[in-house]
Amino acid sequence: MALQNTDPTKTQAWKKLTQHYATTKNSQLKDLFVADSGRAKDFSIQWNDFLFDFSKNRVTKETLSLLLELADEVNLKDAISKYFDGEAINQTENRAVLHTALRAKKSDTVLVDGVDVIPEVYEVKEHIRSFSKAIISGEKKGYTGKAFTDVVNIGIGGSDLGPAMVVEALKFYKNHLKTHFVSNVDGDHVHEVLKELDPETTLFVVVSKTFTTQETLSNATTIKNWFLKQATQEDVAKHFAAVSTNTEKISEFGIAAENVFPMWDWVGGRFSLWSAVGITIALAVGYENFDGLLKGANAMDEHFESTEFDSNIPVIMALLSVWYNNFHKAETEAIIPYTQYLSRFSAYLQQGIMESNGKSVDRNGNPVDYQTGTIIWGEPGTNAQHAFFQLIHQGTKLIPADFIGFKESLHGDTDHHNKLMANFFAQTEALMNGKTVDEVRSELEGKNLSEAEISKLLPFKVFAGNKPTNTFLINKLTPQSLGALIAAYEHKIFVQGVIWNIFSYDQWGVELGKQLATNILKDIDGLEISDHDTSTLNLLQNFKK
Ligand code: F6P
Repeated sequence: MALQNTDPTKTQAWKKLTQHYATTKNSQLKDLFVADSGRAKDFSIQWNDFLFDFSKNRVTKETLSLLLELADEVNLKDAISKYFDGEAINQTENRAVLHTALRAKKSDTVLVDGVDVIPEVYEVKEHIRSFSKAIISGEKKGYTGKAFTDVVNIGIGGSDLGPAMVVEALKFYKNHLKTHFVSNVDGDHVHEVLKELDPETTLFVVVSKTFTTQETLSNATTIKNWFLKQATQEDVAKHFAAVSTNTEKISEFGIAAENVFPMWDWVGGRFSLWSAVGITIALAVGYENFDGLLKGANAMDEHFESTEFDSNIPVIMALLSVWYNNFHKAETEAIIPYTQYLSRFSAYLQQGIMESNGKSVDRNGNPVDYQTGTIIWGEPGTNAQHAFFQLIHQGTKLIPADFIGFKESLHGDTDHHNKLMANFFAQTEALMNGKTVDEVRSELEGKNLSEAEISKLLPFKVFAGNKPTNTFLINKLTPQSLGALIAAYEHKIFVQGVIWNIFSYDQWGVELGKQLATNILKDIDGLEISDHDTSTLNLLQNFKK
């Protein structure tokens, strides 16, 4: 059964939220804290080793209750059941959306078209376990009998970003295998990576849900040709593995059946790192850690599925984001992890969030007249502070930000960690409180500046404050906590798609460029250039000169 189809702007809750926004839009976070001594506690959720503090948001209990009313009016509860139960909620592709089944417990049952998919999921997991173990231990060897030293993941989009982000995030847990990622069709990417490799000791994993993606097939072919300069066609079986739903195309490529890992059309590319798409993760950090990641995600799934909405982390994250996006008209959201290990986290979430909710047609096929998907960006702190924080603090735009920090550092360097975390806490405090005219004045007076100098400098040193942030304070970056964190954002995406009444699990928007590129490649490779607008024509002629 389909998801309920409701224009959110026609709900009672939306109308009330519009009025509520008009009367509260100028409220100051600082005042909200003064007015309510229990605010920090009441607007925080403690879940396992996560403390999610959302008290530094421009919301009151009334705002939250109206947002929760909105969730009820769009029937979020029912939508969550359909999502977890494997109904074909990806209606434009007639598919279920079941990345949650990939991390479900062995005893669970998840039906797709009446068939329980869990036994198959566990079969593939077992294959990932035995394959990764044999490669890591050196039991499986290359064509000259040497153990593998390097692994190359060949894929793009969801077949690259998830594994690349997680391998970097779990670097602390890494074994001796060196991992590389080739994604861009830019030949300079693949050739730079190949420069570092020895064909005798490198394993290549071709990851493509469809096995038709131009970038991945071009890179895989270039790599295979490079490999065959030294090895034979027969040796390909020892050095290439593949992950795809398209097993026919894989065998055409010459990959041995025992190195083929299936996936399913009910796993979206951008949610696929939990499947065999994550095999590079299992190779890099070992199967136990890969499984820990899945277990963490499963724990968040259970929290999301069964917790009341007012204390449900993904639901609250989504509702706050709707509040800023649709009422405060904020266009972007920053994600700032205070750990270098999460340096690829925002890039990964850009695909997850923007490919999912970057839609302007509702579930009736009509253009929406309200804003949908937010623009996601970010970099780790403290580097981000020295790059773009100026604009967040003193620019003209409202940028809600998520701060993600950990109580323990992995290398245990307390001196560094305390400095890092001091910055982490200082930033959300500064963003909220800002710095008033009086505070700036007394600071400048303390420096014995003349009144003329003070008046001149004062306006530039004032911080308006009132900038909203969420804080995730997590005990430690482990496979489990990372899995839970990623899953929280996945469910946030889902909730927002339900509220905005859009289809979050297709991605037709990436097709047009692909089609045109195919035609233009013919123009570039051929003698004649076909019909184009004069700008494109001019550029093509210039390129071919
Ligand atoms: O960019 C579009 C897209 O379809 C993504 O959704 C997907 O992750 C990526 O291309 C790669 O696709 P495939 O895994 O089929 O090669």
